[in-house]
Amino acid sequence: MAGKNNNQFQPGDEVFGEMGDYHGGFAEYVCASGRILALKPADMTFEEAAAIPQAGVIALQGIRDKGQIQPGQKVLINGAGGGAGMFAIQLAKLYGAEVTGVDNTGKLDFMRSLGADHVIDYTREDFTKNGKQYDFILDLIAYRSAFAYARALKPNGSYYAVGGSVATFLQFLLIGPWIRRASGKHVRVLAVQRNRKDLEYITELCKTGKIIPFIDKRYSLSEVPEALRYLGEGRAKGKVVITVE
Ligand SMILES: NC(=O)c1ccc[n+]([C@@H]2O[C@H](COP(=O)([O-])OP(=O)(O)OC[C@H]3O[C@@H](n4cnc5c(N)ncnc54)[C@H](OP(=O)(O)O)[C@@H]3O)[C@@H](O)[C@H]2O)c1
Repeated sequence: MAGKNNNQFQPGDEVFGEMGDYHGGFAEYVCASGRILALKPADMTFEEAAAIPQAGVIALQGIRDKGQIQPGQKVLINGAGGGAGMFAIQLAKLYGAEVTGVDNTGKLDFMRSLGADHVIDYTREDFTKNGKQYDFILDLIAYRSAFAYARALKPNGSYYAVGGSVATFLQFLLIGPWIRRASGKHVRVLAVQRNRKDLEYITELCKTGKIIPFIDKRYSLSEVPEALRYLGEGRAKGKVVITVE
């Protein structure tokens, strides 16, 4: 159904989008603002489309907008084997970066398959302590001090945290400006803005095959607890999708 104030969609249109403001979408029927939905491409299944919205837009706003990546730049993505990381690796490669992906042991080959030039196993190596430096870091799982991340940046490099603890984000807000004045390095939090334009942009990249949204597993609606358990166990690569029959 389409609401009376909506002039974007018609009843029966196949749409997709992120349900964040509405406390999730594990249901056959949901009500959502048309502002954040987009028309599902006819040649894409609902499962393929469902893998894109939040993760794809995070990666786009991180790598394209904040990263402003130039060919040859060194980019590190922390948590690169998950949903947003999967898109971020491929986007950074598309913009010509030399990409390092960080995730657990079981996801190293997966990150390589997405195009990562280098991979780091976070269970064995701390990328903020190995002496290497990057032009841009996108962090999907921030928990270290702002100083540690600044150490891993080249002069004038930028670090953006998307996911992580509130305490970590707070210290970035307090210490980040001081680090910038002292060293010229940026340590910041990225507040992702949901919007249709970005969703359509990343979906077009998927449609044309420039980016491949990898779906690790599909579960039925009745299997949601199992799907969440699989995610929680740290084994999921890319995306896990719920199928509504
Ligand atoms: N800032 C904003 O506006 C905004 C908006 C929406 C969402 N978010 C946040 O953005 C994040 C999106 O992440 P996502 O969807 O890509 O999550 P995800 O699919 O869970 O991926 C996170 C990845 O990080 C890995 N990881 C865990 N601990 C790690 C560590 N110590 N070092 C390196 N990697 C580690 C995970 O592996 P394991 O399997 O080993 O745990 C997983 O592969 C979420 O935290 C979400 O809450 C932020």
